[in-house]
Amino acid sequence: MGISLLTICYLIASVTFILGLKMLSNPASARKGNLIAAAGMTIAIIGTIFLYEDNAEKLHNHAWIFGGIFIGGVVGTLAAKKVKMTAMPEMVSLFNGMGGACAALISISEFHNLGINTTPGWEMPDGGQTKLLIIFLGLIIGSVSFAGSIIAWGKLNGRIKDFAFTGQQIFNIILLLVAVSIAAYLIFNISDTNYYLFYVVLAVAISYGILFVFPIGGADMPVVISLLNSFTGVAAACGGFLYDNKAMLTGGILVGSAGTLLTILMCKAMNRSLANVLIGSFGGSAKTTSGTTKEQGAYKEISLSDAAMVMTYAHKVMIVPGYGLAVAQAQHACHELEKLLTEKGVEVKYAIHPVAGRMPGHMNVLLAEADVSYDNLLEMEQANEEFPTTDVVLVLGANDVVNPAAKTDPSSPIYGMPILDVELAKTCIVNKRSMKPGYAGIENDLFFQPKTSMLFGDAKKVLQDLIGEIKNL
Ligand code: TAP
Repeated sequence: MGISLLTICYLIASVTFILGLKMLSNPASARKGNLIAAAGMTIAIIGTIFLYEDNAEKLHNHAWIFGGIFIGGVVGTLAAKKVKMTAMPEMVSLFNGMGGACAALISISEFHNLGINTTPGWEMPDGGQTKLLIIFLGLIIGSVSFAGSIIAWGKLNGRIKDFAFTGQQIFNIILLLVAVSIAAYLIFNISDTNYYLFYVVLAVAISYGILFVFPIGGADMPVVISLLNSFTGVAAACGGFLYDNKAMLTGGILVGSAGTLLTILMCKAMNRSLANVLIGSFGGSAKTTSGTTKEQGAYKEISLSDAAMVMTYAHKVMIVPGYGLAVAQAQHACHELEKLLTEKGVEVKYAIHPVAGRMPGHMNVLLAEADVSYDNLLEMEQANEEFPTTDVVLVLGANDVVNPAAKTDPSSPIYGMPILDVELAKTCIVNKRSMKPGYAGIENDLFFQPKTSMLFGDAKKVLQDLIGEIKNL
């Protein structure tokens, strides 16, 4: 028996997914990798639409299929074009939720195809239990991912507030156990009289998804988003099993495993445990209310001309970009400052914290957009080794990732999160617009330390003014 053309399409698609993922690991090849994987996905979709056969019958509802692809394609393209770099995590979360919903819908549709609710005296066919197991896996994981991602989306854009009640973790565990237990019971005992329990599992899984993300706040949201992303991958892989679709299976497994690895890496970067994430017990909103912060003493400001002077006569300057740099869209001005200082003989590097900004790799992408050389980007460990020999650190719109409380204050919500040790440098200039806290909502001792000077203003404007000052020196 020869290999069908469709199998070859799926094989090509699977290879492009793996290649694409590999290329995504380097900013220089990431864009190309994305395109290659997208081309593979197109081959898989077109192949399925025109070559798939079930009992010698091909797919015929083309108007529905192409109508859906058209509407989804237009909405997705517009959303991706319009989205601001700072709102990317929200969009990732929303798109991820749609993936979870698709996986759950596949399970619902395949459950209906079993005919339990339409055939009186229905009996389990051969292999039916395995199919039911996969249907339930896709249903539970997909629904949790869908509901959780929608809550995460709402929380990231401020529409949904953190919500928790006493005993919520236990309640969450019970919900999960209820869903899994009913599913297990049905796999062995389903009949035309108890099939409706399938929808109870769906409702309980959705409730779990909502309640598991509700209490998580502060800096912990990205870990949850990455975890939900891996759930969607696993749920999609269940769809691949159901349809014996190799491309869907490979794609799902890749998303699932990549998401899991990213979750573990982010947990490490923020010193959180994965077990805690799973029962939604960690984090909690880290925001402090006004008036509860401790007295920090005085901070000192530096003028633009002094800042320009200090940096121009330094041997080594380390730039620490943060979320504020992204908000101000100051990456190009930042690169210009770097070039100007380099021309004047200053060694300039960038210290990149793994969770600086609002999503993993945020700073790398921003700086790449401004043509900053990758060779000048230092990862946290390397940067921390170089701070003691750095003359000037210029913190641009970063706050939590340079907060020493992560090392010194066990009561701080970011305690234990590895941070950039900027205070080890000889001088530290911090640019932000005010003394307001960052994402975690906590004060930063760094701003009050003797070596630190504040340079207030919008990052882009301040950088442009600094460039002007340095040119006039
Ligand atoms: P943040 O702690 O959020 O601090 C950013 C600072 O930028 C703010 O204090 C703000 O102060 C300043 N700022 C805002 N707009 C500005 C502008 N136009 N010009 C100059 N400054 C501006 O950022 P970070 O240090 O990058 O830390 C990231 C935080 O987000 C961490 O807590 C991290 O865990 C969390 N987080 C990370 C991720 C990932 S995975 N990367 C995802 C979500 C959350 P002013 O208002 O005074 O200007």
